[in-house]
Amino acid sequence: MIAEYISKNRERFLSELFDLIRIPSISADAVYNKDVAQAADFVAAKLKEAGADKVEVCQTAGHPIVYGEKIIDSSFPTVLVYGHYDVQPAVPLELWDTPPFEPTIRKTEIHPEGAIFARGSCDDKGQVYMHIKAFEIMMNTNTLPCNIKFMIEGEEEVGSSNLGTFCINNKERLKADVVLISDTSMIANNVPSIDCGLRGLSYLEVEVTGPNRDLHSGVYGGAVANPINILAKMIASMHDENNHITIPGFYDEVQRLTDIERTELNKAPFDLDAYKKDLQVGDVWGEKGYTVLEQTGIRPTLDCNGIWGGYTGEGSKTVLPSKAFAKISMRLVPNQTTDKITELFTKHFESIAPKSVTVKVHPHHGGEPVVTPIDSIAYKAAERAMETTFGKKPIPTRGGGSIPIVALFEKELGLKSVLMGFGLDSDALHSPNEHYGIFNYFKGIETIPYFHKYYAEMSK
Ligand code: BES
Ligand code: MN
Ligand code: MN
Repeated sequence: MIAEYISKNRERFLSELFDLIRIPSISADAVYNKDVAQAADFVAAKLKEAGADKVEVCQTAGHPIVYGEKIIDSSFPTVLVYGHYDVQPAVPLELWDTPPFEPTIRKTEIHPEGAIFARGSCDDKGQVYMHIKAFEIMMNTNTLPCNIKFMIEGEEEVGSSNLGTFCINNKERLKADVVLISDTSMIANNVPSIDCGLRGLSYLEVEVTGPNRDLHSGVYGGAVANPINILAKMIASMHDENNHITIPGFYDEVQRLTDIERTELNKAPFDLDAYKKDLQVGDVWGEKGYTVLEQTGIRPTLDCNGIWGGYTGEGSKTVLPSKAFAKISMRLVPNQTTDKITELFTKHFESIAPKSVTVKVHPHHGGEPVVTPIDSIAYKAAERAMETTFGKKPIPTRGGGSIPIVALFEKELGLKSVLMGFGLDSDALHSPNEHYGIFNYFKGIETIPYFHKYYAEMSK
C-alpha cells in the first residue's frame, strides 16, 4: 500500500521538496531572515495539508519553530519528530556546479539513480520532508499507528539557541515517548546504519592584538610581534607530534571505551583507500593510536574553522597588522562538557600568549555530546524498519557531527532520541555541491511508516 502510494505520487513528492529547497533559509545571515520565515511557513502549510492539527509557526527571539501534531488516541505512544528547515550558507558560490538554491538532479557514481544537488537537500530539508510525506501517506491510507508530534526548527545550524527555551516552556505540548530524528548519515546505500552517538561542540572566536595600529612592515617588521604569526604558532602548538591536543586537562573526562567496544565499533565496514581517494588526500591525519572510525566517533578534536587578519585583497600590501582572528571549534565526546572545555581552552590560550600580544576569547555556542541506547524499543523499531526496507539489519555507529539539542531533549524533556538518518557522509553537507540521493529520499519515506508501526506494536 505504501509502495503504491509512493509510486503514484513520486513526481509530486520531489517537486514539493524542490519548492522547499528553493527558499534560501540560511539561518546564519540576517539578510535571509525573510526566507527563513518563508521556509517555516512552507513547512507549516505542508504539515497542515498532510493532516496535522494545531499547526503553529511559533515565534522565538530568533527564527521560528514549526509545531504540528496528530493525536489519534491518548493511550497510544507518541513520537516527537524533530528536524531543521534552516541551512548552512552556500558560499563559496563559485565552487558549485549548479546554483545552490536551484535543485538539479544529476547521477553520480554513488547515486546511479540520481541525486538532488542543492544546499539543504540532505541537511536537513530532504530528510525533514521524508517525515512529512510519510505522515501524509499514513494519514491518507489510514495507517497512522501512534500519536505524532512535529517540531521543526530554524536555528540548528547556528546552535539552536532558542529551542532550549522553547522546550522548557512547552513541556506539556512536547510530551512524548521518544524523539525521532533524520539528520545523520548511514554507511552506504547498501549498508544501512544508525548513529547511536553524536559529538558535542565548543565553538569560540579568538582575537590577538599586537601593536595598537597597522604598521609598515619594513619600518617596524622584525621588532614588533605580528599577531598573525603569533596566532598561527599558538594554534599549531595545540596539537603535539602525536596529534594529541595539548590543552591541560582536555582529556580528563573523556570516556574510554573497553577493548570489546572498540573492536565492535571497528567492525563497521570502512575502506581507507576509498576514503583517501574520495578526498584526494595522500594520507589521513589524526590522533595516534586510533582508527579513523574512532578518531571521528569517540575521540575529541580541535580545529581552526577560519583565520583572518591583515591584507587579503588583490596584489600586495606590506603591512604588519594590528590584529588577527580565528574561529576554533572542538568536538567533544562523553563525558566532556562544553562549559568546562571552553574554560580550559580560554585559560590555556591566555597562558601561551607571549607578552608582545594581548588575547581575547569569545565563546560562541556549544552543545553536549550524547549516546543513545541501542537496547530501547525505539532503537529496535528503527532497526526493524530499516531491515524491512533495506533487507539488511542496520549497524550501530557513532556519528562525528553534532546536534546539540539532542542532549537537551534528554535533560529537559526526559526523552531519548533515535537517529534514523538516510544521508551519506559523501553527500557534501555544508560543502559546495551538497546533494541527496533520490534513492535515499524515497527509501526514507518508505521506511518511516514502518518505524511508527513497529514502535506502536512493540510498545504494547
Ligand atoms: N545534521 C548535522 C549533524 C550531523 C551530520 C550529524 C552528519 C551526524 C552526521 C547538523 O545539521 C550539523 O551540521 N550540526 C552542526 C552543529 C551546529 C551547532 C552548527 C555541526 O555538527 O557542525
Ligand atoms: Mn542537520
Ligand atoms: Mn548541518
